[in-house]
Amino acid sequence: MVKVVVLRWGHRPQRDVRLTTHVALIARAFGADGIILSDTEDKKIKETVDKITRNWGGSFFFEMETPWKKTVRDWKAKGGTVVHLTVYGENVQTSDVLSRVRKIGKDVLVIVGSQKVPGEFFSEDVSDFNVAIGNQPHSECASLAVFLDRFWEGKKLAENFENAKIRIVPNERGKKTETSRRF
Ligand SMILES: C[S@@+](CC[C@H](N)C(=O)[O-])C[C@H]1O[C@@H](n2cnc3c(N)ncnc32)[C@H](O)[C@@H]1O
Repeated sequence: MVKVVVLRWGHRPQRDVRLTTHVALIARAFGADGIILSDTEDKKIKETVDKITRNWGGSFFFEMETPWKKTVRDWKAKGGTVVHLTVYGENVQTSDVLSRVRKIGKDVLVIVGSQKVPGEFFSEDVSDFNVAIGNQPHSECASLAVFLDRFWEGKKLAENFENAKIRIVPNERGKKTETSRRF
């Protein structure tokens, strides 16, 4: 199965903490293998996300500080595909962009921005595909969730996260959980 890693660009430690945490949690919950918080560090977010992974399972990684150019260069050198999520891209619903991404069959690096992204992100040197989750501006959280869910055709929402200390027993009403001794 191909690997998907998210590159979060443009995190501003003073104002993006909650949003970047949500981007990371969405990446994990919707089936990405890890996230790279490029060009900056935020130890608090890493702690929060790593703690979620320890408790709720899986092997999601959180990497910080790597310059985005190095990440993209290394990813492409290994034959991976780069998808830039942008409102200006090819519409995921009205074009065949998603099937073209899938057809390549290579690992996918998904770039999401926060503030205005560098113009080079749109170029062939960086992105193999510029994908829009509809051509209306919204949010990195929404675009990442929809992209991953469509990419995996919903399958990752049924996935069992290995080595979890706690898991939820889906229930019509109320809150039911199990701890690791029982599964
Ligand atoms: C809140 S937007 C701000 C974008 C910024 N104003 C710009 O012009 O690049 C932050 C990120 O959300 C994502 N995003 C927002 N709307 C999107 C859409 N319709 N399709 C895909 N990605 C979107 C993009 O990754 C974008 O970099």
